[in-house]
Amino acid sequence: RTRRITAPQITARKGGDPVVCLTAYDAPTAEIIDPHCDLILVGDSVGMVVHGLPSTVGVTLDMMILHGQAVMRGSKTALVVVDLPFGSYEGTPETAFASASRVMMETGCQAVKIESGSYAADTIAYLVERGIPVMSHVGLRPQSMHVLGGFKARGRRQAVADEIVRNAEQASKAGSFAVVVEGVSAKIADRVTQAVDIPTIGIGASPRCDGQILVTPDMLGLFDRVPKFVHKFGDMRAQIDTAVRQYADDVADRSFPRDENLYIFKD
Ligand code: KIV
Ligand code: NA
Repeated sequence: RTRRITAPQITARKGGDPVVCLTAYDAPTAEIIDPHCDLILVGDSVGMVVHGLPSTVGVTLDMMILHGQAVMRGSKTALVVVDLPFGSYEGTPETAFASASRVMMETGCQAVKIESGSYAADTIAYLVERGIPVMSHVGLRPQSMHVLGGFKARGRRQAVADEIVRNAEQASKAGSFAVVVEGVSAKIADRVTQAVDIPTIGIGASPRCDGQILVTPDMLGLFDRVPKFVHKFGDMRAQIDTAVRQYADDVADRSFPRDENLYIFKD
């Protein structure tokens, strides 16, 4: 078995070859994307793109652990990071450690990610000192959608742009090994990339980030309601529709199952 990429190896990529990241929530998808990815995120986006929830706010720690286990089984070399879901880490550093250690012990993943407002620095330092690599997430923070007023690009006001840069600097100083920058102007993303000495992983950010991430069902064209920053690299909806239509036709006219699908026992 090949050794997995480590959190310090991701940090060492600052300013170097872009870090390739995608999300996964199940074993077969993890197996397909693993050879192409440095980092696989088990995102709490699973709530929306797999479970049909209206936001990520309803995702639980148990859901993240179940999907994290599946992704660990399917992948071999990528660094696997599991999102801590809403409510499992914001209250106190101790709560965050209880949640993060459960995730790591029960899935075998190597790191967690938290959405990092200004409150987060103490929590990041607390986790890292105790052996848990932390990826931070600044800019558009989907778990705060009820405060921010929905899923909208952030930082049009200078004060908010400055706060996003400050959040990333604090996350870096507190010991995060990388930081996701979501839903900001390319100018703000570039400021963040300049300001911190850890890799910035962009999503709706800038091609000059130190890496990129997308939600895999979004970029595959499986989930149809996607933000502007998603490029559809595939059209899985159409492919599934075509295959299922063919199946339904073949069942209807009894051309499926075919001879090669049948068990024939000698008597
Ligand atoms: O939950 C998720 O998939 C994420 C990525 C979009 C960064 O947080
Ligand atoms: Na997330």
